[in-house]
Amino acid sequence: MNTYRVGIIGCGSIAGVHANGYRAVRNAQIEFVAGADINPKGAGAQRMSAEYGIRLYEDYHEMLGKERLDVVSICTWPRTHCEATLAAAAHGVKGIVCEKPMAVSLAEADQMIEACEKSGTTLVVGHVHRFAPHAVKARELVRQGEIGKLTLIWGHCALDLMNNGTHVVDLINFLNDDAEPVWVMGQIDRHRRLEGRGNHPDMVMEDMAIGRVGYANGVVGLIELGERADQAFAFKLVGTDGIIEINRPDGPKLKVLSGFRQRGWHAPDLPSIHSNFHSEIEELIETLEGRATHRGKAQNGRRALEIIMGIFESSQRRAALDFPITAQDFVLERMIREGTI
Ligand SMILES: NC(=O)c1ccc[n+]([C@@H]2O[C@H](COP(=O)([O-])OP(=O)(O)OC[C@H]3O[C@@H](n4cnc5c(N)ncnc54)[C@H](O)[C@@H]3O)[C@@H](O)[C@H]2O)c1
Repeated sequence: MNTYRVGIIGCGSIAGVHANGYRAVRNAQIEFVAGADINPKGAGAQRMSAEYGIRLYEDYHEMLGKERLDVVSICTWPRTHCEATLAAAAHGVKGIVCEKPMAVSLAEADQMIEACEKSGTTLVVGHVHRFAPHAVKARELVRQGEIGKLTLIWGHCALDLMNNGTHVVDLINFLNDDAEPVWVMGQIDRHRRLEGRGNHPDMVMEDMAIGRVGYANGVVGLIELGERADQAFAFKLVGTDGIIEINRPDGPKLKVLSGFRQRGWHAPDLPSIHSNFHSEIEELIETLEGRATHRGKAQNGRRALEIIMGIFESSQRRAALDFPITAQDFVLERMIREGTI
């Protein structure tokens, strides 16, 4: 079994979940050696140091220079994701789990992909819902033809496109077998003019968003997000012969209505140590060892970002747009600067 030296950049809330994920890995020996945070005296960094005995750094460049890391998790706020990925790739790290959103622009995402290709680094983006048992089961049922031909996937959650919305966009892509998006139309509302919230203190954000995406396989994705959403992460897959619902607030986590039958499906009991993050990390090890292709690969992270930028840009232009989306900047930020939202 191979050994991997692991470090985490950004030691806040989600870093703790990554750390637990590494601890549970079964397909490799993990040496969790270091963490970097601009606030090393903060509760998160101190907790990780106490629990895992890791060395703490204030500057991740110093950590990367000293620790000869094989795998790095990037768990900072979004605007650092690109720069930290480039730095880790430059230090020859073999694998990176970069938290969502991948970056704040397609230009950044492309730089990250290019740098990792050059250094031979496997870059994955933390769209961890791809590992949720109910989502995996729903995709399997669609593939088996349980609801006939898939026509529409509706996805819904609270918060904004660049925060939890990126999970919704990415999961629609996953449920649709990662088909190519062909066109997008979107609208956003930003009446609260928020600049920074919770774990995205460095971001501007909208209050509500709607996106409609047409895919090459004829499926339409419908994204509804934001302030007036009343549930987290609900999905509905509509086919010619049935419907699958994921995370209904008042029923089983996965409900199938097809062939005049209704049934629920419950994930088998998993060991308490298990989490989607743990699966995400184990699949990274499998990918590094040539036994798998990671479902959260960087190109999939970029695709979710491209759809999000397309929704912003479509809202700005009041028109549907064809792919590829050409905007290279953080479109929402430009809209605010130019006074179009
Ligand atoms: N995959 C998921 O389901 C999931 C869940 C929660 C958060 N996230 C994502 O993870 C990221 C972090 O979220 P969080 O909830 O952990 O936020 P957080 O505020 O709890 O932690 C972020 C940490 O990063 C540190 N940091 C910021 N800039 C840094 C830099 N340049 N160098 C080193 N450290 C730096 C901060 O000091 C802080 O400790 C966000 O992008 C968020 O969207 C993903």
